[in-house]
Amino acid sequence: MLNPVNDDRDYAPFVQQFERQGFARVPLTDAMACKIERIYRLGEQFFVRSEAEKQSYSMQSHVEGYRELGPEYSQVPERPDLTESFSAWNRNRGRPEVEEAVGGLELHRALREISDEWSLIVRGIFRAMADAWAPGSPELRCYNGTYVQLNYYEPSQHSAELLQDSHEDAHLLTLVKANAPGLEIEVDGKYIPAGADSNEIVFMPGSLLSLMTGYKIKPGYHQVRNTRRRDPRSSLLLFVNPEIDQKLEPWIKNESNAGIDIIERANEGPKQFGMPTLVDGTAGEAFPELMEHKEAVLAEQSQPVRAKG
Ligand SMILES: [Fe+2]
Repeated sequence: MLNPVNDDRDYAPFVQQFERQGFARVPLTDAMACKIERIYRLGEQFFVRSEAEKQSYSMQSHVEGYRELGPEYSQVPERPDLTESFSAWNRNRGRPEVEEAVGGLELHRALREISDEWSLIVRGIFRAMADAWAPGSPELRCYNGTYVQLNYYEPSQHSAELLQDSHEDAHLLTLVKANAPGLEIEVDGKYIPAGADSNEIVFMPGSLLSLMTGYKIKPGYHQVRNTRRRDPRSSLLLFVNPEIDQKLEPWIKNESNAGIDIIERANEGPKQFGMPTLVDGTAGEAFPELMEHKEAVLAEQSQPVRAKG
């Protein structure tokens, strides 16, 4: 079991795991495992609420809060990811319209707390990566580009073999911990169970990390298999992007990343999954169609209430 996270911890072994295996695994402390279990419970209570109640905790102009199954996909829009989700972005902290929509929800507060704890590990690993591959390089800033998300699957409700098609996340890093099997990662051309349901956080590299390392670290392809499980499957994720107001120089330069603007790639990356750019999400101009959908759902729900009054 690892000691509590602090700046003195040696993260070099995890960098070596990335080099050897393409992925890394960080053991959970008992305290963190308890916090994650609590998030699963809060999620199970939230996602069974009515569509109108869930939509009332959504602010998709900023990609914050509840998002229904449908808009996000891994390969093509015709095959959406078969999950509902709830997101919390660091960039949205303190924004009045976001706080008004989601601030009162215990699930949201718990997600922010775990985001802070996981981000400490991410910072340590990035520091160790810089030390290993580009000593003396400036800190890779990623706070405002990072968001935490709880995915909620109901596997037995779907006939598809895969609940998420194969993809890589087009971020720097993805951290994942799930309460049930399903996540598979590609190793030597084959998909194998990721073990995210064990007592470890799985760290998956995205193509932005590949660009930072001259493809020393390859993008981590993954998918979610349908186990037909009758109980819901919950998956807690931290997605790490660079902040977009910095110039990012690769740690390792070679022909694979020559002339590529990594920040521009970060900004555009989410579009391949039906998601808004980082710029649009930051400006509160994301997902106008989902904002309209929310208004329609809430208006429909309020009709009978008004009629009674
Ligand atoms: Fe993914």
